[in-house]
Amino acid sequence: MTERIVLAYSGGLDTSVAIGWIGEATGAEVIAVAVDVGQGGESLETIRQRALGCGAVEAYVADASDEFANEYCMPTLKANALYQGHYPLVSAISRPVIVKHLVKAAREFGASTVAHGCTGKGNDQVRFEVGIQTLGPDLKCIAPVRDLALTRDKAIAFAEEKGLPIETTKKNPYSIDQNVWGRAVETGYLEDIWNAPTKDIYDYTAAPEFPPAPDEVTISFEAGVPVAIDGVKVTPLQAIKELNRRAGAQGVGRIDVVEDRLVGIKSREIYEAPGAMALITAHKHLEDITIEREQARFKATVGQRWSELVYDGQWFSPLKRSLDAFIEDTQKYVTGDIRMVLHGGQAIVNGRRSGTSLYDFDLATYDTGDTFDQSMARGFIELWGMSAKVASSRDLRVAGQ
Ligand code: ARG
Repeated sequence: MTERIVLAYSGGLDTSVAIGWIGEATGAEVIAVAVDVGQGGESLETIRQRALGCGAVEAYVADASDEFANEYCMPTLKANALYQGHYPLVSAISRPVIVKHLVKAAREFGASTVAHGCTGKGNDQVRFEVGIQTLGPDLKCIAPVRDLALTRDKAIAFAEEKGLPIETTKKNPYSIDQNVWGRAVETGYLEDIWNAPTKDIYDYTAAPEFPPAPDEVTISFEAGVPVAIDGVKVTPLQAIKELNRRAGAQGVGRIDVVEDRLVGIKSREIYEAPGAMALITAHKHLEDITIEREQARFKATVGQRWSELVYDGQWFSPLKRSLDAFIEDTQKYVTGDIRMVLHGGQAIVNGRRSGTSLYDFDLATYDTGDTFDQSMARGFIELWGMSAKVASSRDLRVAGQ
């Protein structure tokens, strides 16, 4: 039987050419796998037809946008995940859901190998292949760009020579990856890290310098997940989309960073994640009133480690799973409403309420009727400072010898 290879297919030039390129280089039959993670653009049917037109023997297309929102974006929100304090893991969380569908398609169509269009310099090759090793340990991986010398110029020449039904003239100087959680843009002019991004780079956000009137929004959460916007019930996918629209119109969620890739390179990336950043801000503020202090402090550390694991392609790892269990446990009381104003590139919280809040007005108030016994503070401070005080008197004694 002819060997079969499933290919992660975007519908773009490189993966369209990869179908025939892999076929010629390996003699295998190629099955194109396209997964909708809310990236917008062409319909899955258009992409399916193109894959078949480019020589795929089968095309597997899946609308995974709700699955992606529920099972990938929501855990990222619960973790308040920002890699290196900035990046809400847009591309990093889409790879594992694509991997799930690649492995499913490989089983359905009897494929022995999985192919993807990544280069050998990025994180995504690691995320795909580590994910595939974990979910389908018997499957092999190949990357035509990295392993079969499929360069951009060769891709254009191949497409023209074979008359593939794909545009070869459109020149986009950037490498773009996008889904409902956000958008990532790199390469070209941006590789000079002193160059400011030009206007044409942005798509999910309007310029924050010229904002429309301020937009006040109330987001309701249940156990860490958004369930209503301005009182109207929403699914996680709808919440992200609605906030992409409203926060995007105000220029919220533009991020320009140089980040540390897993492969050891520092690289410059522009992100736009209006919905994600508005949601993470609101969620964090709700945690501030519903999570106990020590648990909250520890959770910040866990969230950071979680972000690193996910960035580094360890979505399906045991440690990530254990951290998920911790994070999930902290979300039990993260229920309530956050009111925020979206304006001029910022999402600023100006009100919060929760039936499971730990904010105690009677303890906090400076007005009469406060229930906090201030006389307890003196002794507490005395003991709290004791160990440092003992150490400093030792330091003075030693220095004086
Ligand atoms: N640097 C980001 C990451 O590793 C995004 C990668 C894809 N970016 C792109 N512009 N194609 O998660």
